Amino acid sequence: MRRVKVGICGLGTVGAGVFNVISRNIDAINARANCQISISQVGCRRDNIDCDLSKSNVSRDIFDVAKNPDVDIVVELIGGTTVAFDLVMTALNNGKHVVTANKALIAEHGMTIFAEAASRGLIVSFEAAVAGGIPIIKALREGLAANQVNWLAGIINGTTNFILSQMDSKGREFSDVLAEAQAKGYAEADPTFDVEGIDASHKLAILASIAFSTPLSLDGLFTDGISKLEPQDVTYARELGYAIKHLGIARRSEEGIELRVHPTLVPESSLIAGVNDVSNAIMVNADAVGTTLYYGPGAGSEPTASAVIADVIDIARVMDSYPDSWVPPLGCDAAQLKQHKIMDIEDVETGFYIRFSALDKPGVLSDVTKIMSDAGISIEAIIQREQPAGEHYVNVIILTNVTKEKFLDEAVVHIENLTTVRGNVNFIRLEYLDQI
Ligand code: HSE
Repeated sequence: MRRVKVGICGLGTVGAGVFNVISRNIDAINARANCQISISQVGCRRDNIDCDLSKSNVSRDIFDVAKNPDVDIVVELIGGTTVAFDLVMTALNNGKHVVTANKALIAEHGMTIFAEAASRGLIVSFEAAVAGGIPIIKALREGLAANQVNWLAGIINGTTNFILSQMDSKGREFSDVLAEAQAKGYAEADPTFDVEGIDASHKLAILASIAFSTPLSLDGLFTDGISKLEPQDVTYARELGYAIKHLGIARRSEEGIELRVHPTLVPESSLIAGVNDVSNAIMVNADAVGTTLYYGPGAGSEPTASAVIADVIDIARVMDSYPDSWVPPLGCDAAQLKQHKIMDIEDVETGFYIRFSALDKPGVLSDVTKIMSDAGISIEAIIQREQPAGEHYVNVIILTNVTKEKFLDEAVVHIENLTTVRGNVNFIRLEYLDQI
């Protein structure tokens, strides 16, 4: 039987999962890959107590793995974009195929890495880079290959979904839940990547590139995180029949491609509203198939390992017949990829949730509704919430119909200028999802 040797670089949360799942399921993995897979070297700065390394060849220098003649596939699980980039390029220069879970690396340097790999007849796979254990890359690149994708929208960061779900269902504090997400190994080494939406933007760039056959790029991608969300907005949204989710949305229109990551109100009746804790879910709307939904764990040790090892098996199956049976990393050859205009967020159309504090006296709401109607924005719902006794201001919450963001911005300036309104107008975008 053919032998395929794997070198693992990085033995953190995901690395340990890969080591343990390969060790545990080796017979099934070998049967599916139709070869004998083994871990010939592990590169890690320190051992991981979750792995029994007693029979393993361990190096403290990950570059040993990238250069090891006894390694066919290098699995990069160290994260970051500097050393990881050097590691992957070293592996390719040494004739190794590469599997990575590193979304930042693929989003920022994917085109360079893929070109290098193609020139050397090598494969780079990255299923685990997006949505943890959900095989969304394979679904987009292969399962939906016959379609024109119209849009995709999803929860693609497990940590933010965990935080939002726990704030919503248990009323827990943001910082408390983030600490738990870190302890569970969901969060990035720098958790601001999760809470500020950067991790999701890397994943959305990868999904959009495959869905729309465009070169990988973060240019023009609008990114907002959940750190500024207030618990009262989660509560008010629920009162109005909506959940707040952190979504990545990519949509193709005649004006260009929308690429945006931000907190979003979604109707409680939508499937995505029921996706909680570390789970991810991606809806894909495409011309032939219609709308499909992919759901599962979006982070964590073994779910992510499941995707990494699937890539190892895929490579093991086809590496001897490259380029036959090989699917290019972005679904088609680099020469077939086409650049599209990325739309400015100001030109994107969504509904909006807005909240502000206004003096509790006659005429205030009519001033606000006049501003909205002058801006051509139609109001879907409006509620007013009393403040504690003695407080003269009330919270006003408005849901709008779909409008361009620039019209909402104009209205916000006028509302903030009213002498009866105190402080800023807060707004959150709203999507119906079935209508995107
Ligand atoms: N920090 C990421 C998340 C890990 O929470 O989704 C999986 O990519």
